[in-house]
Amino acid sequence: MMKRCLKHFLTMQECSSEEISYLIRASEILKIQYKTTRYTPKVLKGKTLAMIFQKPSTRTRVSFEVAMYHLGGKAIYLNWNELQLIRGETIPDTAKTISKYVDGITARVFLHKDLEILAEYAEVPVINALSDLWHPCQALADIFTIYEHFRTFEGIKVAYVGDGNNVCNSLLIACSKVGLDISIATPKGYEPYKFAIEYAKDNSEKTRSNITITNDPREAVMKANIIYTDVWVSMGQEKDTEKRLKVFLPYQVNSELIKVASENHIIMHCLPARRGYEITDEIIDGPRSVVWEQAENRLHTQKALLAQLILSR
Ligand code: CP
Ligand code: NVA
Repeated sequence: MMKRCLKHFLTMQECSSEEISYLIRASEILKIQYKTTRYTPKVLKGKTLAMIFQKPSTRTRVSFEVAMYHLGGKAIYLNWNELQLIRGETIPDTAKTISKYVDGITARVFLHKDLEILAEYAEVPVINALSDLWHPCQALADIFTIYEHFRTFEGIKVAYVGDGNNVCNSLLIACSKVGLDISIATPKGYEPYKFAIEYAKDNSEKTRSNITITNDPREAVMKANIIYTDVWVSMGQEKDTEKRLKVFLPYQVNSELIKVASENHIIMHCLPARRGYEITDEIIDGPRSVVWEQAENRLHTQKALLAQLILSR
């Protein structure tokens, strides 16, 4: 286990580059062990994880539940609307109460601020299962997937094309922490969160990762090794759907756009995808797509994260 231990996992900015490298190594060991023997050490035997969800989820929910089960513990799924929160019990009171029963909390919320309050009052580690601003569990699986594929971060360029949303913000942080170059192309007004850019620039002073923010998708994808996209309308933005679908049209990842990428490239998407919008079928289903490995890796990276956070309390 690492010497310095994480308390919460809310943005990934709280992790050192060494902690992230540790999590990647641990994920790889857990993955190989599970794939070859169908076994995961039961290091969380008797431990419990509360999973509070304000929004829908397929990958995050299932991978966390299965990860806890494989580690010998138990996950408890809690719909936000079925907790007393919906009747006005405060987040601090909820955090303090739930902390008396469980060893960790993961939460998917609309407002990142709510997650910060939860973490402030919880007596157990809190993991961000997605907020309006960040999706660090996704980013952890993403950089693990990139590492598995290229076996290095050095000289590898990531291009993110589309909305400067939660997934983009976290990918930016993750790349800057491990020394991956990243180029992000969004329409004007849809750039990544200003603090994500600030943190990433700080991180890159240490890791030397090159960061480019542009409005030109071809510039971002030029010679890129990874082409990454996400939906144009995130959960909670449904009322802006019509406008967004128009603004983002030139940012579709399709066979024309990837012509300028490196010959040695892979295609990534956090999923769920809106096929025919941010990405075409031929690209997401094409031979260079690693989206299913990426989804699978949520299981292995979250096992590493859960073990690290819960055991080092
Ligand atoms: N990528 C991701 O977090 O998927 P879900 O919304 O299905 O959890
Ligand atoms: N940006 C998307 C990611 C879903 C996993 C959303 O927030 O809806």
